[in-house]
Amino acid sequence: MFRIVSFPTTPSKDQKPGTSGLRKKVETFRKQQYLVNFVQSIFDSLPDIQGKTLVLGGDGRFYNSKAIRIIARMAAANGVGKLLIGKDGLLSTPAVSAIIRQRKLYGGIILTASHNPGGADEDFGIKYNVSNGGPALENLTSMFYENSQRISSYKLAMHVDFPDQEDPFEHTLSRIDQQGLSDVYTCQDTGNTFEMEIISSVDDYLHLMKQLFDFSQLKQFTSRSDFRMLLDSMNGVTGIYTRRIFVEELGLPKEYLMRDIPKEDFGGHHPDPNLVYAHDLVELCDPNKNKQAVPNFAAAFDGDGDRCMILGTGFFVSPADSLAVITANADCIPHFRAQKLKGVARSMPTAAAVDFVAEKRNMTCYETPTGWKFFGNLMDADLAQICGEESFGLGSNHIREKDGIFTALCWLSILASKNEQQPIGKLISVEDIVKKHWETFGRNFFSRYDYDHCKAPAVSKLLQHIKEIQTEAMKQKGGQLLDYPVKLKVADSFTYIDPVDHSKTENQGYRFVFEDNSRFVLRLSGTSSSDATVRMYFERYSKDVALTSQPVEQVLRPVIDIALKSLQISQILGKTQPDVIT
Ligand code: G6P
Ligand code: ZN
Repeated sequence: MFRIVSFPTTPSKDQKPGTSGLRKKVETFRKQQYLVNFVQSIFDSLPDIQGKTLVLGGDGRFYNSKAIRIIARMAAANGVGKLLIGKDGLLSTPAVSAIIRQRKLYGGIILTASHNPGGADEDFGIKYNVSNGGPALENLTSMFYENSQRISSYKLAMHVDFPDQEDPFEHTLSRIDQQGLSDVYTCQDTGNTFEMEIISSVDDYLHLMKQLFDFSQLKQFTSRSDFRMLLDSMNGVTGIYTRRIFVEELGLPKEYLMRDIPKEDFGGHHPDPNLVYAHDLVELCDPNKNKQAVPNFAAAFDGDGDRCMILGTGFFVSPADSLAVITANADCIPHFRAQKLKGVARSMPTAAAVDFVAEKRNMTCYETPTGWKFFGNLMDADLAQICGEESFGLGSNHIREKDGIFTALCWLSILASKNEQQPIGKLISVEDIVKKHWETFGRNFFSRYDYDHCKAPAVSKLLQHIKEIQTEAMKQKGGQLLDYPVKLKVADSFTYIDPVDHSKTENQGYRFVFEDNSRFVLRLSGTSSSDATVRMYFERYSKDVALTSQPVEQVLRPVIDIALKSLQISQILGKTQPDVIT
């Protein structure tokens, strides 16, 4: 039995959700009513939540368990009928999306700051997903924000007998490790019931993966004596999935898994699968550095399991190439074979490799703003079935989030299918597949520079400067940027009109596209928890075989140089080097 108590509160500043939910330092979430204010604002934006079922879980980062306890009490007090909580409070982002869709739930709350570091001094985050399994769209997230700015009270379930200290749901929440446990509590004020169930973090997701992939084919392939792989969970939540799927289901050795125990602080690292933060894995895949058994295939996942980096032996697959190769080889993947592929989508800053595949396969290619939520409408309307982003996110219409393990399984399916007839010792490698792809479609060279911790005045000066040079350059038809030999074709700020609901999203990144289609793009990150991060993206396309085998950095140099020079990056930001290059 519990009762509902309303507590007075005042709005917290800074509760505008970013690209993917609200992300702040743990310290901020712990301050006064920061967490309760935002959670109450979510419930206040969902007037028909009464009696509905929600799922709740997170990537296990610091403050996960505490937040779960608070949110459970608020959910009950706000009339939620049933709350499904992942065992130990753990659920990956793709698993939440799968659970919402398979169980036809009203929505879900995911506690994650994705690839941002975790720990008492690091980041925490909260994200709301709707009934299609995807992140809440702008209209809803701006309602969360508006409500957060006029909030005056929040509701909390209290113990009837010990209002001061006892958590009314102690019986369930202290047994969060007991999968299958289910308790029903009654509200003294309304007579309604509130049920809480501890569910498996993995079952629903595994069930879905088995429908999408041929596990017996994968088992046969991965057990080849000339095949070896490494999966790096970066101490994030995917460890519980990789153990179950790859070790228990596919029967692979435990040694194929790295950093597979979720840790509250991700071992002090950024759980971000890129060449910088997953450096250990990159070295293990490099035959010049690792003299032991080098894997033929490796993947790294971020904290909440929606991002994935793919590696071969001494070979890095760029996210745009991963999207293009998977699309081009969709017939190797049962999930894609079983449907008619009509379209693909990529975010604007993502290199255009998949565009060439789409053209050849008669598929429409959509270009969206950064943020997975923009793919939701395209998938719901069955316009696009495969989507991807430069930030190592790739997924499909099986759920409404990007999906790291799904991406790795797609690659394994491609490898399995290409190697079906190959004798032992003659394995067609990841590198062979990508190079063959470049031969057919050409290569999109891509690199991203991140400038972290930029201060507001410098950033506004930079944006002002960009606007000026864009206007100046476009005044003349075929504008010129300094002494760059190729003329500018487009210099604008990206606007997206959603083809389904026709909503318009403006200011999604400054584009400078040259007549040879090489380009650079600049935008501000929407996921940093403090200060601003400036991202610059560089791209150049070539079908010339002499060029496609050159190092990325060398091929992109002219584009990078002209971008840095014309935008006066080092002068304005006061940084001679980017903080991260991927
Ligand atoms: C999150 C979103 C992605 C998006 C990324 C961009 O991970 O889920 O869909 O690509 O953020 O982050 P940024 O920091 O560039 O805004
Ligand atoms: Zn993530």
